[in-house]
Amino acid sequence: MPSKVIIIDYGSQVTQLIARRVREAGVYSEIHSCVTTAAQVAAMKPSAIILSGGPASVDEADAPALDAGFLELGVPVLGICYGMQLLARHLGGELASSLTREYGPAELSATAPCALWDGIAFPSRVWMSHGDKVLAPPPGFVTTGCTSSLDVAAMSDEKRKIHAVQFHPEVHHSADGERMLRNFLFGVAEITPDWTMSSFVERATAEMAAQAGDSHVVCALSGGIDSTVVAVLLHRAIGKRLHCIFVDNGLLRLGESDEVVGLLREFDLNLTFVQAQERFLGRLKGVEDPEKKRKIIGHTFIEIFDEEAKKLPQVDFLAQGTLYPDVIESVSHKGPSAVIKSHHNVGGLPETMKLKLIEPLRELFKDEVRKVAKQLGLPDSIVWRHPFPGPGLAIRVLGEVTEERLNILRQADRIVQQELRQSGWYNKVWQGFAVLLPLKTVGVMGDGRTYEHVIALRVVNSVDAMTADWARLPAELIERMSGRIINEVVGVNRVVYDVSSKPPSTIEWE
Ligand code: XMP
Repeated sequence: MPSKVIIIDYGSQVTQLIARRVREAGVYSEIHSCVTTAAQVAAMKPSAIILSGGPASVDEADAPALDAGFLELGVPVLGICYGMQLLARHLGGELASSLTREYGPAELSATAPCALWDGIAFPSRVWMSHGDKVLAPPPGFVTTGCTSSLDVAAMSDEKRKIHAVQFHPEVHHSADGERMLRNFLFGVAEITPDWTMSSFVERATAEMAAQAGDSHVVCALSGGIDSTVVAVLLHRAIGKRLHCIFVDNGLLRLGESDEVVGLLREFDLNLTFVQAQERFLGRLKGVEDPEKKRKIIGHTFIEIFDEEAKKLPQVDFLAQGTLYPDVIESVSHKGPSAVIKSHHNVGGLPETMKLKLIEPLRELFKDEVRKVAKQLGLPDSIVWRHPFPGPGLAIRVLGEVTEERLNILRQADRIVQQELRQSGWYNKVWQGFAVLLPLKTVGVMGDGRTYEHVIALRVVNSVDAMTADWARLPAELIERMSGRIINEVVGVNRVVYDVSSKPPSTIEWE
């Protein structure tokens, strides 16, 4: 049976990082809410359990509690930060609460040999973020590490294979954190790393074939990596019973629909290519409000999808590219989340379609999807493609969306894409694109005064689009983009660079 680490989430901001590090070590991991019971965890047959950090204080009313049953399952346990305090409280250690938090780097010294410390030279820099602290470890435990402000920064009961650390080994600021986590996985829990993308592809293909049975499946393709990977995987699983629908809404980048359709044909996918430019642009005529644009585009998409799906053989399933961060249960300790995000473009399908969902990527993080895409032989242009919003260029042409304004933006955007690629910056940033502003400014070209459009360049770094920072591109690169746009795109006489971060700004301008 494949190895699996279960992470119990007590609400830390960095719980996802624990899952990431474990998977990077080649071990499959899942995050579960702190209301998950020991019986439920036992049914998951974990190879090890990790208790995450969290913002609560163990003794405050309503603080998430430890299900003592976790310790009776006979699998190794690692408690991190709040997880350590829970272990200490539950097993009879001594805790002190504090209103002030220790936050930042600290130097960890080893005070006793410990399996987690294998191969690590001390002192070792670790990252702290905690209020409460353990004053004395529970019976059976030894203190294995300390810092200048903490007598018990780590503790372990090697016999029961329960380890705990006050700091966060999952964050990069903890210099040997990755090594410590690996020591826990491979040294303490003796797990064999078996989570690879080729094993994922084999398993997912077999599971989807079983789930679909003899049914037909429909998949809306956007040309982005997630839906493309879903389609190619499903094609492996059920062949021609997969029906893909790709809609050209007239809001795509220059050459994008040809590229996407060409690629999908290469993979021999059953593809319906719908040309609906006029329907979308007709409905957007005169509309300036961003939210109205989004609604019109969303509804029109669903309408077309519904029309096209009706022409197919009886379809029972809808395939979606939902990723793991979208399905992780909320950290709420009042109960598993009712709000599992559904951000997908086809999320609002008519009830009458009654489609069941197939979501083969729901276990994966974005970087893992990229690895799967490579494994499936998808070209780099898809693997490393920047995210592109469902409403497309409509939300990058600020104000009214017209064919003429879309054309200006397309040309400017093509230059941005070319320059990012040629300079090697494309794969270093999260997203980079041009925005057409709804105003004109004065300029001078040759001997004449001009009064023309402004293009804004938006290039950001991000890990998950929840927060983002503007990319510090070399000035020469920005200069080249600006120069080319003003010279080559008729109707533009000014280029500005967006230097706002998210929050308080957003990545897109609408
Ligand atoms: P914001 O502008 O909210 O964008 O900072 C965050 C990320 O989401 C993308 N985005 C969208 N994607 N439909 C989508 O599929 C949308 O309506 C949409 N709006 C924004 C955006 O490109 C960025 O990657």
